[in-house]
Amino acid sequence: MSVQIDHLLHESRRFPPSPEFAATSVATEALYTDAAADRLGFWAEQARDLLHWHKPFTRTLDWTNPPFAKWFDDGELNVAYNCLDRHVLAGNGDRVALHWEGEPGDTRSITYAELTEEVKRAANVLLGLGVRAGDRVAIYLPMIPEAVVAMLAVARIGAVHSVIFGGFSAESLRSRIDDAEAVVVITSDGGYRKGRATPLKPAVDAALASGDSSVRTVLVVNRTGGDVEWNERDKWWHEELAAVSGEHEAQAFPAENPLFILYTSGTTGKPKGILHTSGGYLTQVAFTHKNVFDLKPETDVFWCTADVGWITGHSYVVYGPLANGATQVLYEGTPDTPHPGRWWEIIEKHKVSILYTAPTAIRTFMKIGRQEPQKFDLTSLRLLGSVGEPINPEAWMWYREVIGNHITPVVDTWWQTETGAIMISALPGLTETKPGAAQVAIPGISIDVIGEDGEHVGHGNGGLLVVTEPWPSMLRGIWGDPERFIETYWEKFQDAPNGPLYFAGDGARLDRDGDIWLLGRVDDVMNVSGHRLSTAEIESSLVAHPMVAESAVVGAHDETTGQAVVAFVIIKFSQTDAASHADISAVLRAHVTLQIGAIARPREIHIVNELPKTRSGKIMRRLLRDVAEGREIGDTTTLADTSIMQIISESMR
Ligand code: WT7
Repeated sequence: MSVQIDHLLHESRRFPPSPEFAATSVATEALYTDAAADRLGFWAEQARDLLHWHKPFTRTLDWTNPPFAKWFDDGELNVAYNCLDRHVLAGNGDRVALHWEGEPGDTRSITYAELTEEVKRAANVLLGLGVRAGDRVAIYLPMIPEAVVAMLAVARIGAVHSVIFGGFSAESLRSRIDDAEAVVVITSDGGYRKGRATPLKPAVDAALASGDSSVRTVLVVNRTGGDVEWNERDKWWHEELAAVSGEHEAQAFPAENPLFILYTSGTTGKPKGILHTSGGYLTQVAFTHKNVFDLKPETDVFWCTADVGWITGHSYVVYGPLANGATQVLYEGTPDTPHPGRWWEIIEKHKVSILYTAPTAIRTFMKIGRQEPQKFDLTSLRLLGSVGEPINPEAWMWYREVIGNHITPVVDTWWQTETGAIMISALPGLTETKPGAAQVAIPGISIDVIGEDGEHVGHGNGGLLVVTEPWPSMLRGIWGDPERFIETYWEKFQDAPNGPLYFAGDGARLDRDGDIWLLGRVDDVMNVSGHRLSTAEIESSLVAHPMVAESAVVGAHDETTGQAVVAFVIIKFSQTDAASHADISAVLRAHVTLQIGAIARPREIHIVNELPKTRSGKIMRRLLRDVAEGREIGDTTTLADTSIMQIISESMR
């Protein structure tokens, strides 16, 4: 790893923006100088410029009770009004908001006026079902326009959405519904993936089967026309929307009104409900979407390929682009259906000018080869973005050369579910970019790389990434668990002179120019295809199976997905003869899929007799990672039994 990093840090290629790109850059150097001169004044100005406030704010930041921040807290706004009505009122109602592509080839282009009306109807439906400001609504949908409509309708009435990625299982769905005490679930009969209609509603039915949940109503979008079981609490979305008025006046809500909860994996088994609120969140997603993506809303076509079930979809499919009045593409399916050039075909068709995707996708396309994208006209592209995990320089170069025709800037954007919006990124018209580095904090954001001692590491050194000042789109807490919020992010560096520092969980290095290189997680969180998974969550799922006595899970390097889940399990003595290794492995992989979802399914399961533990009983995952990655096994001296690694690696040959 460190050899690779040193190599990276000697990356000497530099790509300044072309003169033409720089000449029309949306962002100017003044952003940096203004933010440096008066950080809070800068954010107040952005909030006023980018958003419509029903009631203007007079206070920018309240940080009197850290780490509980309040931004713009005496102001009032309506998030959906900002994403919809005001664009229509400004005369842009005929502008396309969404060019939607269904996987089977059905399409829909929806203007801002149409989207506004549909959201108004959905808001009226929710009100009719008794949903009130502050109530939680769970959304479990494929990538169809109704997902966007549902989120905005919830926001419009001041309620709180919790979107659950469609790849999560019934059990994951249930625990998230319970934790948030959702009163309504919005789902669909199914969606299209890999050429097939995949049912979704059965998972909702299973999650609610025991009958003791907080959910009163399930709204069902008709997407695939597949058979569904019908319960008393179920209502068809289209019937309900047709039965209500298309008029709805947006009410103002306080800037700190909760907007959504989004669950993400932490270092323990239980997912954390990350809470975001309204005014600060919308300010920073709109600001970053405009400046990092150099957005010209009259002419650009933006495409962020993330699912709305993740934070990237919340911030850069729904809230950022719509707050800025952008036109964008929304695609339901997988990149290779019905043919491996599907994405490039969509870019050609809609003349996409800005593409935002993940390194894992880029590496998959690299493997398929440049002949696929070269079948299509990609000259509409003028800017490319990357997010989710470190992008290796080879992938960065391929992205720029093959997809970006050797000329488009590539911005590598670092942020998290918790940060709500982009924190570190080049600004494409200003920054000279470096393949593989996220580079610089965006204007108004204060980032540092420090050692365990809390000291700045200095250029050329590595350490831990921290955010040193509160930021507008920061998480406001973990739903129902203020203690965990403090412990997870703020306790490690709580004694800094200007208040606690936010510890992101990522390692980073500063190069000789002071640019930031992200090095991956320093905790037990894995990153598989840009998705966050917890080792502890998968371990507890494995030991919940009657065959398993103990388990340890590690994220091992994977060429395409960044990391892959590799599990080591000890099978209970009574079960050891029952089945072959292959059978056990298949059973356990299916078990994890059922318990958490297919994204958590281990790539490999190794059956072992012992796990490497320290004398205090802590599993040494570092050593298991060495085995899983086929490396020389590192220092084993702190193991309680030093012969174990020998036995484990021999058993794997
Ligand atoms: C973790 C957050 C925020 C978008 C999707 C992931 C890793 C994210 C980068 C990047 C290196 C990155 C970090 C971070 N990460 N972007 N550009 N370079 N690493 O959100 O699921 O909350 O995961 O993703 O490790 O902590 P998330």
